[in-house]
Amino acid sequence: MSRTIIVSNRLPTKVQRNAEGLTFQPSEGGLATGLGSIYRADGNVWVGWPGLFVDDPAEQAEVTERLKSDSMAPVFLTEAEIRDYYEGFSNSTLWPTFHYFSQFATYEDAHWAAYVAANQKFCEAVLALTGPEDTIWVQDYQLLLLPEMLRKARPNATIGFFLHIPFPSFELLRVLPWGNELLRGMLGADLIGFHTYGYMRHFLSAVTRMLGLPTQNGQIETPTRTVLVDAFPMGIDYERYAETAASEAALAHERTYREALRDVRVVLSIDRLDYTKGIAQRLRAFEQLLINHDEWCGKVSLLMVVVPSRDQVAQYASLKEEIDELVGRINARHGSISWNPIHYFYRSFPFDELVSLYRLADVALVTPVRDGMNLVAKEYIACKTDQRGVLILSERAGAAVELTDALLINPTNTNQLVEALHEALVMPEEEQTTRMSNLQALVQQYNVFAWTQLFMDRLAYSKIKQHTLSTD
Ligand code: G6P
Repeated sequence: MSRTIIVSNRLPTKVQRNAEGLTFQPSEGGLATGLGSIYRADGNVWVGWPGLFVDDPAEQAEVTERLKSDSMAPVFLTEAEIRDYYEGFSNSTLWPTFHYFSQFATYEDAHWAAYVAANQKFCEAVLALTGPEDTIWVQDYQLLLLPEMLRKARPNATIGFFLHIPFPSFELLRVLPWGNELLRGMLGADLIGFHTYGYMRHFLSAVTRMLGLPTQNGQIETPTRTVLVDAFPMGIDYERYAETAASEAALAHERTYREALRDVRVVLSIDRLDYTKGIAQRLRAFEQLLINHDEWCGKVSLLMVVVPSRDQVAQYASLKEEIDELVGRINARHGSISWNPIHYFYRSFPFDELVSLYRLADVALVTPVRDGMNLVAKEYIACKTDQRGVLILSERAGAAVELTDALLINPTNTNQLVEALHEALVMPEEEQTTRMSNLQALVQQYNVFAWTQLFMDRLAYSKIKQHTLSTD
């Protein structure tokens, strides 16, 4: 029987250590939900890193056993691998480069060597679990070399690859000393998926210009195989958000928040701590709103949730300081005894509280400087069961391609952002409802299950096509 293996850097269960020992926390992430029906099916498995350093053999055995019962297999990373492959090449070289932050990128041979070795380690873990005809779906930028490594060992396997972050213009990619190797790594797949056609076009152009390979209609001819490339915008589990938003628990939380905030209107922002998210720019724009439209002082608050992330990487640590400083300064300057301009939380929220925050928010401010997709925008839409609320969305998030009924802004243009905020706060209810119902129809239809299905169907098709070409 042919099986399907999912591979990603991070497993959908987070293993942590506390005083009593190890704890296992299933992820709420969209990818885990979308792929749930695949990796949990008989014989299938999800291979990845459990998210912490475990070197004690007894603990490794405990983690392996525990994850096995939920169809997962761990790849244990050493401290050096966490530093050089994960924090190093993945998050200090690839992440900034692919998000157009080349000025933050480092180019360390040792990080590259660790990246190659770690991809090899994931490859061995996958090979130990797969047969020659299995389907392997590799996820994201931490594993760009894995498709080619797998292809060498399993020439007949069906291999898919999906990139969850932007694919940048060729001009950014050519700055990397290892650009050609990365492209060749990806080309080991039968099907390569991106969130948008824009990213796909950048990839095809890089393949032609850097590797000199011919491409036509989303097809790349390598000397030995044809590789298909396509756009698959990822969605969310719409019903889960909508149903939770309508639940008694969510309503109760919302009532509590509402009482505490009294009549103050709420602008919500939720992100992982990341310089790509435009958090500092957003804070400055909110302050500018209070200056340019001072009628909002005392009447609107920004509720800002920042989820801790990658705090061992220098740029993230300094961004955290910048945000702390900005929030403190804005609150100190504009706040009063009875009103706080910004309510700032540096932590994650349980799912039902998060949903209540979405319910509560009059406006969602999703203004990344660059973002592969941005699922927060879609989550907000799914939670607005009364169809009130306005989404302000950066045109540089992948989601902007689909969510054209949002107020689309350029996050660098502070004046535009300030005016969009004002417009959102005074938008007539009828217009809110029209925009929101259009957005909801779209997000509901192209949910994460449709995304998974489309990719898997296209992957199966790519294999049939490959087979037909090779027997012609
Ligand atoms: C982005 C990436 C994912 C990554 C996630 C969290 O969404 O595309 O691959 O898992 O951020 O980042 P982390 O470094 O904590 O895994």
